[in-house]
Parts: sequence; C-alpha cells; structure tokens
Amino acid sequence: QTIKKINRGLFIALEGLDKSGKSTQAKLLSQKLNARKVSFPDRTTQLGLIISDYLRGNNNMSDEVIHLLFSANRWEQHTSILKQLQNGINIVSDRYAYSGVAFSAAKGLPIEWCKAPDSGLIQPDITFYLTGPIEQLSQRGDYGKEIYENSSFQYKVGNIFDQLALQENFYKINALKSIDEIQEEILQHIQEKLQNVNQLQLKKLWK
Ligand code: TYD
Ligand code: MG
Repeated sequence: QTIKKINRGLFIALEGLDKSGKSTQAKLLSQKLNARKVSFPDRTTQLGLIISDYLRGNNNMSDEVIHLLFSANRWEQHTSILKQLQNGINIVSDRYAYSGVAFSAAKGLPIEWCKAPDSGLIQPDITFYLTGPIEQLSQRGDYGKEIYENSSFQYKVGNIFDQLALQENFYKINALKSIDEIQEEILQHIQEKLQNVNQLQLKKLWK
C-alpha cells in the first residue's frame, strides 16, 4: 500500500495601498486556487470589531495600542492558518503583517518596534504589493471613508512599503493595470512555487 504525500498549501499575501485592488485580486486568486481567503483586519472577531470602529473614527486609541490589536487580530488566525497549510490548503491573505508595519511606521513608530509583535507568525511564501499614484487611487469609489484614506498618509505608507518590498519573494505590482493583467502577473509568479511547494520550507516572521 502506498501512501501519497500531500503537498502543503502555499501561503500568498496581497499588500498595498488603500483602493489598490487587493480585495478584488484576493477574491479572484482564491477562487482560481481553490484557496481559503483570509482578510486582515479580520473584522468578524471581537478584536476585529474594535479595530473596525477605530478605522471609522469611532474610538480613539494610541498608535501603540491599535498596532498591538492589529497584530493580535492576526495571531487569532495563526493556528488555523498553520493547520490548513499543513493539510494542503492554499491560503490567500488580503493584507498581513507588512500592512501592520507600514501603517504604524508611517505614523512614526520605529520599524523594529512595529515588527516585534508579529514575530513568529507564519511568513507568506510570496507577497504581492499593489501600488500606484495616490492621486489616481484616491479617485476610486468609497475612498475617504476610513481614517487612513487620505493622500498625505497613504504617501508615507507607500514609502515604508517600498522599503519592505526590497526583500526576497516580494513583488511590486502596478495597481493601474487592468484586473485581468494583474491576475495574470500574480499567477505567473506563483506557478513555479505551486509546483515545488514541498521544497519550500514554511518559515516564520521575520527571518
Ligand atoms: P482594508 O484592507 O482597507 O480593509 P477593507 O478592505 O475592509 O476596507 O484595511 C483597513 C485599514 O487597516 C487599511 O487602511 C490598512 C489598515 N491596517 C493597519 O493599519 N494595520 C494592519 O495591521 C492591517 C492589517 C491593516
Ligand atoms: Mg479599506
């Protein structure tokens, strides 16, 4: 009797500026890969509800406190993401720890301090960073509803993302391209990783 070794799942993160098209791409990609889609902030948990209120300007918190809540909100999903990856389920994450760092560091918190609470979370195998000119992204629907959706802040966030994007397995994508073009570009980059996923070691942040 032969036992077929199942491939572990691939962990893909989509990051970027507000209105850069992450959610659209995350949805398409998770359908294509038959993956589980997770989103951060995960607004369905109790912590997520507090974060959601904060983002709508309904409760004021220090930069440190909200940063730690965003991180805790990722830790809430840690075990389930790990188990599913081990069981061969691909995961597509709409934002992840890089957003945590970029948005808080853009407020002036030290990058190393921002990274610390996410240390030990599973590292995505590949991350896509959707970005484009803020003047154009800010014209997209619904912009400005939440406290971070203003051009001067997004500009600072973009600068931090640009620094984070220098690492391996981090691909910058032009958010002004069409939905289909972006999806195609993402699929091309993950093709090889999907085939060799068992040779890829599951790593933890921030190695
Ligand atoms: P967003 O992806 O825009 O959520 P939705 O698609 O529901 O509008 O995320 C909400 C905001 O939270 C966004 O401006 C980025 C910010 N954010 C952080 O500041 N820190 C984090 O750790 C995460 C995950 C998001
Ligand atoms: Mg948003």
